[in-house]
Amino acid sequence: MGHNEPQVHAAPTAVTGSTAEFWMPFTSNRDFKADPKMVVRAEGMYYFTESGRKIIDASSGLFCVNAGHARKEITEAVAKQLAELDFVPPFMRGHPKSFALAERVAQLTPGDLKRIFFVNSGSEAIDTAMKIALAYHQARGQAGRTMFVSRERAYHGVNFGGVALSGIVNNRRKFGPGLHVAHMRHTHVKENYYVRGQGEHGADLAEDLARFVNLYGAENIAACFVEPIAGSSGCLVPPKGYLDRLRAICSEHGILLVFDEVITGFGRTGQPFAAQSFGVTPDLMTMAKGLTNAAQPMGAVAVATHVHDAVMNAAQEGAIELFHGYTYSAHPAACAAGLATLDIYERDDLFARGRELSPYFLDAIWSLRDIPIIKDIRGYGLFATIDLAPDGAPGKRGHALQKKLFDNGLHLKPTGDSALIAPPLIAEKSHVDSIADLLRSTLRAL
Ligand SMILES: Cc1ncc(COP(=O)(O)O)c(C=O)c1O
Repeated sequence: MGHNEPQVHAAPTAVTGSTAEFWMPFTSNRDFKADPKMVVRAEGMYYFTESGRKIIDASSGLFCVNAGHARKEITEAVAKQLAELDFVPPFMRGHPKSFALAERVAQLTPGDLKRIFFVNSGSEAIDTAMKIALAYHQARGQAGRTMFVSRERAYHGVNFGGVALSGIVNNRRKFGPGLHVAHMRHTHVKENYYVRGQGEHGADLAEDLARFVNLYGAENIAACFVEPIAGSSGCLVPPKGYLDRLRAICSEHGILLVFDEVITGFGRTGQPFAAQSFGVTPDLMTMAKGLTNAAQPMGAVAVATHVHDAVMNAAQEGAIELFHGYTYSAHPAACAAGLATLDIYERDDLFARGRELSPYFLDAIWSLRDIPIIKDIRGYGLFATIDLAPDGAPGKRGHALQKKLFDNGLHLKPTGDSALIAPPLIAEKSHVDSIADLLRSTLRAL
């Protein structure tokens, strides 16, 4: 694949001047600004620093550049769109690409998840899904269903709805209690350590949802949100039978099942969505990231037609059915990026490509197992996580690792003392080898 290899470019302008004004998100600002890890260009599998150093991208940016960086087709589609129609209000006005993209997304989603609501990020997708769930129950005369269920170690973005659902304590502790959410236990059980793919143990943890039904009453529960594979907290693959059991409990008690596929969507698990990989279909599904290959900010909620229709039919003819939306919902440039991205996935058969590369990738990551500071490895598709034994304060070793890896030529996303590895779906075996080699040498020297 020629597009993986960097071409010769004119050197981008070096960043000079102050770093004080930009308050960086989810970053140790003082640490970064003391030793900025700046990137000025990207192409295919690589980032490039100001000095022209090549950094292999082992986590698809932030799990979003699934088709590799700087895809010409997407850049051109966005430029053309901006020149032709830069913006149209999404309220009461339309443009063809929004409908075309919704149709294309609906061809990828499983079951009857065929109604698509566009937003600008994963966090907005989550809050939108929460509101749709509440509106659905109201429409059916069950307005008492206002509480939600999610899971420990979940990450559902940073808006207030998503923070309430999230089970990562640092993302919650400074921002108050939020909405009424009960958290099931996570599925990272010792018996499944070092298991590749789905573990045999832990399906019974889905019974936490049944316990909440008994404790709070199903008539008070709107929806159960889970990432099919918990992503940000480090590739927690669902144990065999776990998602099926959640599905059964939700169906039995009229609770909507929502899969947050912001990371797992668009080929990460070898299928369009993890729902297809695990054979379980939710009632709503959130997505973002890979939808536009991250070339434009965009997210979406796929909604089962029966949920959509209930909300539609409860509104008077001619009235707005759902009082929700964003100025930039279905932005023309984002829709153009989305269409060009889905074309690439289809033309290059990238989901199948990722599926085929997965065993080689997982072998490479598991080959690191003998390194003494590693205490667990998990993986599925083109997504894996290595847990390190903490070195003093939690997160200290993970932070040191990602900095050293960057200096050694590899970018990945750390969470605490875990290294999250999720290369673009265009990766070749040689890229996987480089990633494993750099991980091995850096971990050994840590
Ligand atoms: C599962 C999941 N949901 C939601 C989000 C939030 O997405 P965003 O950062 O685009 O708001 C993320 C981001 O990583 C995510 O992994």
